[in-house]
Amino acid sequence: MTTDTLLTVTDFSVVYDVDPPVEAVSHVSLELRRGEILGLAGESGCGKTTLAYGIQRLLKPPAVITSGHTVFHDEAGEDIDLNTLDAAQIRAFRWDKVSMVFQGAMNSLNPVARVGDQLDDVFTTHRPAMRRAERLEEARHLLDLVGVGRDRYRSYPHELSGGMRQRVMIAMAMALRPQLMIMDEPTTALDVLVQREILTQISQLREELGFSVIFITHDLPLLLEISDRIAVMKDGVIVELASAESIYHHAEHEYTRRLLDSFPSLTGERGDFIRGTQREEEAQ
Ligand SMILES: Nc1ncnc2c1ncn2[C@@H]1O[C@H](COP(=O)(O)OP(=O)(O)OP(=O)(O)O)[C@@H](O)[C@H]1O
Ligand SMILES: [Mg+2]
Repeated sequence: MTTDTLLTVTDFSVVYDVDPPVEAVSHVSLELRRGEILGLAGESGCGKTTLAYGIQRLLKPPAVITSGHTVFHDEAGEDIDLNTLDAAQIRAFRWDKVSMVFQGAMNSLNPVARVGDQLDDVFTTHRPAMRRAERLEEARHLLDLVGVGRDRYRSYPHELSGGMRQRVMIAMAMALRPQLMIMDEPTTALDVLVQREILTQISQLREELGFSVIFITHDLPLLLEISDRIAVMKDGVIVELASAESIYHHAEHEYTRRLLDSFPSLTGERGDFIRGTQREEEAQ
């Protein structure tokens, strides 16, 4: 039976085993709901990327998971405890069920391969039964979905703008229709308008395709616009987790309020802010 919960993280801790050791994530527990956008906010170095990697078992030494576990409640009804998977199972799981758009991802496309072929590679590797024509059509469809357009199939990354390259990365992350996409600061290198456009699109696609998103950024106002719920992290701990609405109006934690106050755009009415008019006006 499927539940409303997609992912349960319990008592999760990660230490970087350096001298002196750094406890980057400390006893974090959270539940991600099916179909929701969960924002993860907090200042640089608070442990956001470490948590995102840790959830998917992507961490490498010197990182050590010192406590906790992650259970993925598959839409097929199975509960998958990621602690019990071997390396090959984890790799398959990562593409099939969960995908990630990495921090600075738009520079990680292969510069000497056409973007369509890079999408095609995802299918060739992970869906060996797909026929060539099917792969081609699916890759074109994905380029349309993320707003790059199928006519860019044969473009090289350097022929695309930063925003388009970022969309291609998002298309790749969506290629196998994962149930969860984790996005780590996917748009910070882009200007505000392009960023907003991409986020609106992710939000729409999420509604159409039904995946959940963990969206990581230090930009709390941005999360207020796009998230259903927001987790605020500080020094490896989630200090607050609530609906975007409630974080905005009644942030309980002093640190959350300071984060909100550190963005000047929050002086106006929330309505303006949500429609995105205020920040753009201020930017002019
Ligand atoms: N490979 C590593 N070795 C040692 N310490 C590390 C390593 N990677 C990260 N850390 C430390 O772990 C803590 C959390 O880092 P992390 O990258 O998860 O933060 P973050 O919240 O994603 O920051 P940012 O917003 O800058 O991306 C920091 O104190 C960082 O210095
Ligand atoms: Mg990070």
